[in-house]
Amino acid sequence: MTRPARLAISGASGRMGRALLNLLGDDTRFELVHTVVSPGSARGGQPVFAGRDDALRYAHDWTHAPALDVVIDFSGAAGLALALDHCLAHGTALVSGTTGIDSALEARLADAGKRIAILRAANFSLGVAVLTRLLREAAAALPGWDVEILEVHHGRKQDAPSGTALALGQAAAAARHTTLEHAAVYSREGQTGERVDGSIGFAVVRGGDIVGEHTAMLIGQGERLELGHRATDRSIFARGALQAAHWLAGRASGHWQLDDVIATSR
Ligand SMILES: NC(=O)c1ccc[n+]([C@@H]2O[C@H](COP(=O)([O-])OP(=O)(O)OC[C@H]3O[C@@H](n4cnc5c(N)ncnc54)[C@H](OP(=O)(O)O)[C@@H]3O)[C@@H](O)[C@H]2O)c1
Repeated sequence: MTRPARLAISGASGRMGRALLNLLGDDTRFELVHTVVSPGSARGGQPVFAGRDDALRYAHDWTHAPALDVVIDFSGAAGLALALDHCLAHGTALVSGTTGIDSALEARLADAGKRIAILRAANFSLGVAVLTRLLREAAAALPGWDVEILEVHHGRKQDAPSGTALALGQAAAAARHTTLEHAAVYSREGQTGERVDGSIGFAVVRGGDIVGEHTAMLIGQGERLELGHRATDRSIFARGALQAAHWLAGRASGHWQLDDVIATSR
C-alpha cells in the first residue's frame, strides 16, 4: 500500500491500546481514523491525543467509523466480536491479539477468513515466534521427556493459561502427533495420582505488573531443558501488531500468520 493505511483500534484505552497509540505518533505507515472502547467506558467522547489539534475521539462503537483499510483489536471477546462484525460488513482486514475467546467466536473467526484477511496471534513478539519454533524442534527431538509450560502475568489478566502458553502447548503437542485436547493438564490439586506419560502440564502465576513470561520445560531423567521468554515492555506486542497490520492491509481474504509477516519482512 503506497498511501498510509487507514487504521482503527479496538480496545484503544486499554494497556495494549495505549501502547499502540504511543507508537503511532511517529508512524507514517498509518492514518489513525477511529478508536473504539467499551460501551460503558468513561473514555468515550474524550480526545485520543490530549493537546493535539485533531478531532479524533474515543468512540463507544463502530457506528460512525469512516472507511478503513485495517482494524487492530486488543479488547477482549466482546470487543473482538463487534470489531469482526464491522470488518465483515465492510470487507476490512482484521489483526487481533485478543485471547481467551470461546469456541463460538473461534468458529465465527474461522469462517470469516473466507471473506476478509485475518491475522491473529496469541503473542505478537518476534522472540516468542522463535521460542515456538525451538520448542517444536525440542519436543520432537526429545520424545520421552515431560513437557511443562509455566506462564507468569500481571494480576489484572482475565484468562488463564495465557493464549501464548496454549499456543506453545499446541506446538509441543503437534510435534508429538497429538493435540492439547488429549494431552493437556490444566490444574493439579489434591490426590492427583502420578503424572500421565505424554501429558503437557500448565502452571500459572499472577501478580503485580509483570508484562508476560513463558517457560517451556522439557524434563528428562537427570536433566532438564528450559526455553524461556520474558517480555519487559508491552511495546514489543504493539510493534509486532503494527507490522502485521501494515502487511495485512490490502491482502486477499484468508487466515494469515505472524510467521508469514516475519518471512516476507526479513
Ligand atoms: N497477542 C498479544 O501479543 C497480546 C499482548 C497483550 C495482551 N493481549 C490480549 O489483548 C487483550 C487486551 O489486553 P489489555 O491488557 O490491553 O486489556 P485491557 O487493558 O483490559 O484493555 C481492554 C480494552 O478493551 C476495551 N473494551 C472492553 N470491552 C469492549 C467492548 N465490548 N467493545 C470495545 N472495546 C472494549 C476496554 O475499554 P475501557 O477499558 O475503556 O472500558 C479497553 O480499551 C487481552 O485478551 C489480552 O490477553 C494479547
